[in-house]
Amino acid sequence: MQLADNIAAELTRSGFAIVPRRHMVELLSLAEGSGWQNFAANWKDLPLDTFMADCGQYRRRRFATFGMQGSRIVRKPHQPHFQGRSFNRLNGGVERWFEPVGSEVAESAVTFGLLSLCRYLFGSTGIIEPMRDQHIELHQFRIEASSDGEGYPTPEGMHRDGVDWACITMIDRNNVDGAETRIADERGRVLATVTLAEPLDTVFFDDRRIRHGVSAIHRTDPDQAGWRDVLVTTGRHVTTSSLASNDVPLRGHESPAIRPVFSRNMSRMSLIDTYREKASGERAAAKEASLPNRRQVHERAAATWDRMAQSAQDTFDQSVVNAAAKARL
Ligand SMILES: [Fe+2]
Repeated sequence: MQLADNIAAELTRSGFAIVPRRHMVELLSLAEGSGWQNFAANWKDLPLDTFMADCGQYRRRRFATFGMQGSRIVRKPHQPHFQGRSFNRLNGGVERWFEPVGSEVAESAVTFGLLSLCRYLFGSTGIIEPMRDQHIELHQFRIEASSDGEGYPTPEGMHRDGVDWACITMIDRNNVDGAETRIADERGRVLATVTLAEPLDTVFFDDRRIRHGVSAIHRTDPDQAGWRDVLVTTGRHVTTSSLASNDVPLRGHESPAIRPVFSRNMSRMSLIDTYREKASGERAAAKEASLPNRRQVHERAAATWDRMAQSAQDTFDQSVVNAAAKARL
């Protein structure tokens, strides 16, 4: 693993590492016909991101979460994406529900290889602590450039994601200029710029030390569609003694790896109460929101939590009926 160790050393020294396609192919052991084309084709049907506070129509995405315990990686139940407003002044502060990443991506060898590589690289640097569990988020993004304007990969500007580590992997660019990735230190001094041009070109970074941002894209040929597809992967340690909102396991999806957290901390009924509390918190936030767009975001989040509470209630009620039926046998 000489190549990986060199990258880990660069991460330790600089807080980031830019890894070109040819090295990523080697690190992920991607041979010809490894399914890359099928993997990348999944960026064709990303739904529109309807949570943009700037009302932009240029971003499409899907979202998935995973738990990592040692060498074990398990997909978590679908849940909202949340960033505090201190990390994302434009879209933070609300729970954003995106459509889930499909199994063709979430369960692919490329994703598993990338997550394993992240574990090795960030584990080697000490950013991932071996005895602590990780919460991992996977974001499929497509940024589109309209014929008369720009598309913005990071409309929030230079930022941290609010995690421990992250990487941005290029999937595809079609008929666009721009999208220069800037890497800066905590004080905003630019340390490097790079344009991810080839599929699999990747930037790894220590999100605790590094700020990042990507410049706007424009169509090269204004008469042809233009887009930029990336996969963003982030990770942070989780505190298993208390359930953060992002870590609540949901009805019917508790994986063996996550179930102990659920069992220790929360009964089914208290899970329902938690969902209801979240719904009422979102409704309260909707009442206080001054911007119509943000009010709608809170109202939609409240409706989603209500549906989840109802679903969990139905499951609980059914389990009571089942137990009673069994007792009569
Ligand atoms: Fe980011």
